[in-house]
Amino acid sequence: SHRITFGPLVAAIDQGTSSTRFLVFNSKTAELLSHHQVEIKQSFPKEGWVEEDPKEILQSVYECMERTCEKLTQLNIDISNIKAIGVTNQRETTLVWDKETGEPLYNAIVWLDLRTQSTVESLINKTPGRNKNHLKHKTGLPISTYFSAVKLRWLMDNVDEVHQAVVSHRAMFGTVDSWLIWCLTGGKSGGVHCTDVTNASRTMLFNIHTMNWDPELCKYFGIPMEILPSVRSSSEIYGLMKSGALSGIPISGCLGDQSAALVGQMCFQDGQAKNTYGTGCFLLRNTGAKPVMSDHGLLTTVAYKLGRDKPACYALEGSVAIAGAVVRWLKDNLGIIGSSEELEKLAASVGTSYGCYFVPAFSGLYAPYWEPSARGIICGLTQFTNRSHLAFAALEAVCFQTREILDAMNQDSGIPLTQLQVDGGMTSNRLLMQLQADILCIPVVKPSMPETTALGAAMAAGAAEGVSVWSLNPEDLSEVTSEKFEPQINPEESEFRYARWKKAVEKSKNWET
Ligand code: G3P
Repeated sequence: SHRITFGPLVAAIDQGTSSTRFLVFNSKTAELLSHHQVEIKQSFPKEGWVEEDPKEILQSVYECMERTCEKLTQLNIDISNIKAIGVTNQRETTLVWDKETGEPLYNAIVWLDLRTQSTVESLINKTPGRNKNHLKHKTGLPISTYFSAVKLRWLMDNVDEVHQAVVSHRAMFGTVDSWLIWCLTGGKSGGVHCTDVTNASRTMLFNIHTMNWDPELCKYFGIPMEILPSVRSSSEIYGLMKSGALSGIPISGCLGDQSAALVGQMCFQDGQAKNTYGTGCFLLRNTGAKPVMSDHGLLTTVAYKLGRDKPACYALEGSVAIAGAVVRWLKDNLGIIGSSEELEKLAASVGTSYGCYFVPAFSGLYAPYWEPSARGIICGLTQFTNRSHLAFAALEAVCFQTREILDAMNQDSGIPLTQLQVDGGMTSNRLLMQLQADILCIPVVKPSMPETTALGAAMAAGAAEGVSVWSLNPEDLSEVTSEKFEPQINPEESEFRYARWKKAVEKSKNWET
């Protein structure tokens, strides 16, 4: 049959907290040609624990790749045009496997997991002045349950198989990128054990100035350096696909998902920023070649390093643990909605929370508070309150949390953002986008191609293989294909609601006392 000829194609594996996707783009136009998505199961074996199955994660990647290739073939697009594959992933999530058997030694401990709360509290108590920022000068991060080092420590202390594998030199540690690249490039028969600088910068074992694993940090957490992956740039050939329809194609891009979204949104200039609404919600602002330390509770992180000989770029990041996750909670735990579309309809039917405020601090509070002992609260209820108000309050919570991050970001940089570039699954919720503009009092700008995370990883992969995906003018792209939400309520109204939210946050921080 007739085959459509395209130029080179670039692809990305996007392994997020809630789902896995494989996407293929036309490198000339950045057009999304085909994709497939599979949801990932999460287990909550104890209160505060969040785990995923490493094998299910890997299987979902193979399944998405196969199904996407089938769809492309049905579209008469020749899959041999795929020149490069990028990997982008949920960050911090921690895995240990046996390099001889190839078997994972425990479930993946997901970034949201709180099992290390008491370890974190005792580590902080031992620092001079009980300072959670004790390691920030090297890592850019506060000591928190969020990052990999404490999760890895927990695995070594509590899982006998992990302990045994470490002492017998068979253990490999990795975040999801490392696990996938190792498996896809051959696993126990010659797989490549590596990560990129953006993922490494989320472990708390990585020095963001020297751009290497830090022996002192490893000693502090008691982590043997031999189990760590080698650290590479975000755009270079790590290895070749070992099996499947795409066997032989280089894996040549790797970025944590938030970094990839920054790249996919073309935020290459100092000062440019994006906010991605996924399971959590993450606002990153490019700070150029310099790591800037926050005075307002933000993280300093490696944004990207697009080539072995290219300089690293840094970003300030405001991390919100719970955004899309609140939708899944309303659906799976409370059963008050059947789908996320239903949430928008329900919330829109009332157009107000009627004084109800919902702080979804399910995993403690992240930026700007870093309060692991905070817990979720819903307040301001009356006999009048119904599930529609609760739905509205849940959407508003996502917006208020972003407002707190934006305020911190503006204070740190001294140059306020005049509009906010957004992406991610939740941005299809138009009510949410309008609410966000209302609560920030600045316009919110959304690209028409929402898969910016995958595009960023595909761009990085293409760049290493000499396939440029950004020959298009980034300015044309944003002008032609974006949608803008302008603030519609008056700033006084917005400030009033935000002040109430802040009160609710104080209650969630001190709910026990
Ligand atoms: O730091 C966690 C983050 O990378 C997860 O992203 O898109 O799964 O919410 P997402």
